[in-house]
Amino acid sequence: MVTQIEFRKCSYEQFCSELSILDIGDKTGTFQVKQNLKPFLLRVCRNPNDLRLDLYEDYTKKLYEILVTNAEESFDYFVDKYISLNKPIEKYLYLTKKTSLEGKVFNGQKNAWLGRLSKNLNHEQFYSTKKYSDKDSEYTYGLLKVMYEKFHIRNSMACPAFFDSILNAQNYAAFWKAFMLGCNKPSIFNPHTYYSILTECFSGEVLFAPVMGWNSYQIGFQNSSFKHMITTDVIPSVVDNSRLITRLYDQNPFIEAKQVDAYLYPSEKLGISFIHEYQNMVDAVLFSPPYFNLEVYDSGEQSLKNYPSYSEWLECYWKVTLQTCAEVMKRKAKIGFVISNYRGNDSFCADMTDIANSIFVQQDVYSVKWAAQRGSRAPKKQAQGNLENLYIYSKI
Ligand SMILES: C[S@@+](CC[C@H](N)C(=O)[O-])C[C@H]1O[C@@H](n2cnc3c(N)ncnc32)[C@H](O)[C@@H]1O
Repeated sequence: MVTQIEFRKCSYEQFCSELSILDIGDKTGTFQVKQNLKPFLLRVCRNPNDLRLDLYEDYTKKLYEILVTNAEESFDYFVDKYISLNKPIEKYLYLTKKTSLEGKVFNGQKNAWLGRLSKNLNHEQFYSTKKYSDKDSEYTYGLLKVMYEKFHIRNSMACPAFFDSILNAQNYAAFWKAFMLGCNKPSIFNPHTYYSILTECFSGEVLFAPVMGWNSYQIGFQNSSFKHMITTDVIPSVVDNSRLITRLYDQNPFIEAKQVDAYLYPSEKLGISFIHEYQNMVDAVLFSPPYFNLEVYDSGEQSLKNYPSYSEWLECYWKVTLQTCAEVMKRKAKIGFVISNYRGNDSFCADMTDIANSIFVQQDVYSVKWAAQRGSRAPKKQAQGNLENLYIYSKI
């Protein structure tokens, strides 16, 4: 079931009286309104070539059709385009064996569509992920809900370019494109990229992933030569989905069943009993940790929730997680993590690797290339071509 939305039935006049532009400066997380659409347009349309006021009625009738008359249908289009699996499930479960390593770069753009299964399974949490603050009111499901239920839209939906494309659209594609460009959404690690890194940079049988990365690491693992995965996350539904994915692979009588130990627990609190259970057993550790406050997940004992100050987060989440990894790793086993600096934190990689250097020996650095996100609101790492770093270390 996609996030609960109550579709409304009301007259066109009522719709217009409520149709408003959200306040982009709102920092309360409560989707405050700036202005009703009509006075908003009266205020911003100053150029004689700007015809938005003349087209007000056509535009609002079109929006009324999308958000009221055909609300269920337009919403189905959203589900189809951004959540549904449009290929048979096997296509998402069994990956091409050719890795995506090109020189020193893992090309995460190759087979990026494979991330859809993770998004499909976790869409509720995925599209509810906020950026930088739990008061963010630009996350996808929040914006979706106020749009259908209150007719409050982001100003970008009424900017000249999108005003025209929504008005002239023959289907819902342009509408949802305009909507999605204004939404914050988290990233998904391409399962094929995880598989490629595991295959090219690591060897052995036992893998530890101290976060689940929306379950995509597990798909990479299932396709690799590793046999046993130990993994933990703090979002209950992600952990449930890990068990579901295990069952999906177990149903296939033609492949050897693999062991997945999935924990619902903060990695930094796994502690003595975990270490005792897996001490010196792990051949490889591979993950992309939370980037401190870049993505704010609202479920479970999130590292950011437990350690809201950056220095404390580095000490209590990152350092302790790496120490736990070191305890369970075999001698000379390798650990890799994918990170990048991000808007507001230019020293993230330096801070994270400083701590890693105090525990492990650095072996190599690769890049991972992701698809660039369009739009001026894309984080800095995107503007720079969206390359992230894969740091590889080994235990002494
Ligand atoms: C999706 S991944 C990495 C995302 C990506 N690297 C980024 O932040 O841009 C982050 C995952 O870490 C999990 N997580 C957060 N705190 C954790 C903790 N203390 N222990 C284990 N997992 C945690 C989150 O629930 C989430 O599933």
